[in-house]
Amino acid sequence: MVGAYVSMRASCRTGEAMTINFKINGSRQSVPAEADTPLLYVLRNDLALNGAKFGCGLAQCGACTVLLDGRAVRSCVTEIGLIGDAEITTIEGLGTVDKPHPLQRAFIDEQAAQCGYCINGMIMTAKDLLDQNPHPTAAEVREALAQNLCRCGTHSRIIRAVLRAAQNMGKT
Ligand code: FES
Ligand code: FES
Repeated sequence: MVGAYVSMRASCRTGEAMTINFKINGSRQSVPAEADTPLLYVLRNDLALNGAKFGCGLAQCGACTVLLDGRAVRSCVTEIGLIGDAEITTIEGLGTVDKPHPLQRAFIDEQAAQCGYCINGMIMTAKDLLDQNPHPTAAEVREALAQNLCRCGTHSRIIRAVLRAAQNMGKT
């Protein structure tokens, strides 16, 4: 795995703008970018997908989390040139205002956001969790979200929202 990453890095030239093609939220996109541009910058600056947030830029807060082939990654440290054929899913790809994803619905129902800055990362990390483990315990939700920071301190509502979503998704 590490070897594959190193070889991908070696094959990616940096410091030189190129056209980068990738799959995102069910469609294909291409943007001119240097290969080492953080995915988060491409999402926000080139595609106007502003759900993922810039918090620390150091993979430490989780505000920028997106899914890469279904697994949660920190887009602030994911180089666009290394995406390859992996499919990116952002929170904009989960649901719509009219038809929110059950996780989005549960976060609304539990009023889990105060400022809302962390919520993208919480929901995308929780999506990865529920895809892997559809019926997590509260302890498992806490563990999955332990590296996602919420400065407003709404953790207990966030955990309740994820458990509610799991319960609702189990009914459908
Ligand atoms: S902005 Fe990416 S983890 Fe904090
Ligand atoms: S709701 Fe404000 S950082 Fe979490």
